[in-house]
Amino acid sequence: MAESITITDNRTGESREIPIVNGGVDAAQWSKLLPGVWFHDPSFSATAGADSAISELDGEAGILRYRGYPIEQLAENSTYLEVAYLLIHGELPTADQYDQWVHDITYHTFIHENVRKRFMEGFHHDAHPMGITVSTLAALSTFYPDAKDIFDEESRYKQVIRLIAKMPTIAAGAHRHSVGMPFVYPDNSLDFCSNFLSMMWKVAEPHYQPDPVLAKALDLLFILHADHEQNCGTTAMRVVGSSHSDPYSATAAATAALYGPRHGGANEAVIRMLTQIGSIENVEPYIADVKAGKTRLQGFGHRVYKNYDPRAKIIKKTADDVFAVTGKSPLLDIALKLEDTALNDDYFVSRKLYPNVDFYSGLIYQAMGFSSEMFTVLFAIPRTSGWLAHWMEMLDRDSRIARPRQIYDGPAARDYVPVIHRT
Ligand code: CMC
Repeated sequence: MAESITITDNRTGESREIPIVNGGVDAAQWSKLLPGVWFHDPSFSATAGADSAISELDGEAGILRYRGYPIEQLAENSTYLEVAYLLIHGELPTADQYDQWVHDITYHTFIHENVRKRFMEGFHHDAHPMGITVSTLAALSTFYPDAKDIFDEESRYKQVIRLIAKMPTIAAGAHRHSVGMPFVYPDNSLDFCSNFLSMMWKVAEPHYQPDPVLAKALDLLFILHADHEQNCGTTAMRVVGSSHSDPYSATAAATAALYGPRHGGANEAVIRMLTQIGSIENVEPYIADVKAGKTRLQGFGHRVYKNYDPRAKIIKKTADDVFAVTGKSPLLDIALKLEDTALNDDYFVSRKLYPNVDFYSGLIYQAMGFSSEMFTVLFAIPRTSGWLAHWMEMLDRDSRIARPRQIYDGPAARDYVPVIHRT
């Protein structure tokens, strides 16, 4: 089979042979062979924006792998910090490398006092924790001017450690501020997730020890959310990073992308939807509204997965462990009924709409006591390691600045009209 396509330009009658590279058309080749003919692809759905060796996703088969390792095996055997190491370095760590990595992250969890006192506490009392997180991340770049040295290996490693380590501190701080509770300092005797839970929930006890089942469940959710190839947030990270801005500014941009309800905000929308449905009897009428185009089934559908999202399968199992500790969520039965109804309805089957990662994660977070405003922040904590892996890969592969073309469809050239002559 020839690895090329032949295109005939009907304006000139000329034919061109375009080589197929890695299953697609190389834009540089294309523009040499057909200068001035652009792709119109505003959501990049038919555009490979990067060559990447970080995560592999087969949407038709429902497969996700980090650096070649199946997500199911990592979820079963690994920890979030080990997965973060894998994403950043490309290989699983040896025992010594892991100890050093955990030590480095543990000892960079504190944030500068001025970030907390002057900056985070300056937000309005009811500020959304995601808004606080986005802004605080951007502000960190002013505290670490050395971060601008993006091609210095040592400086780069330091920023990677700082960002992964400080995310839980910023996230918990944003929550505590938004509910009027005092900030809790990191406890370096606890593991990554237990320390985060301590910063979230500690009140007056001298040493907060979270339930190990909940800490483990959170760690698993962090593994599942750590990377997901070229999604909207990661694309934002790469696009902003391609201008060589510092990693704090780029991470703030990626976090801002995650804030939207079509991306990281979907699990918040799932809880709102389940609460609005209210009881099992209302599931059928809700599905009818979805089919009539009046609303969307939140937590269903995915740009890439046209099969059950493998992360949703793992999360569904974890929900049982969490509910055994916290008590069952009253919304679970509605979610199960909704899933069952949708998976047996031709509207959803024919469009290959399956539950995605967000369908059950919100229920778990809610049962663990997190407010729905915190859900996206919980997503941003582990995704930071994926973003940073992409940022480093993009810089190491000598990428060009992201600068797409546009198709201009505004008014033709016209002359300025002084205001007195305008009608
Ligand atoms: N409920 C009902 N219909 C849907 C849904 C849904 N959740 N998602 C897609 N469709 C329909 C859509 O109406 C369209 O139908 P038709 O062909 O008749 O016009 C068809 O399926 C294709 O939809 P699309 O909008 O072209 O698909 P997309 O790839 O642009 O959108 C999506 C992907 C995730 C934005 C969308 O499925 C959606 O809005 N889902 C709900 C929000 C959600 O759960 N988001 C979390 C995504 S996973 C987290 C992450 O990885 O970031």
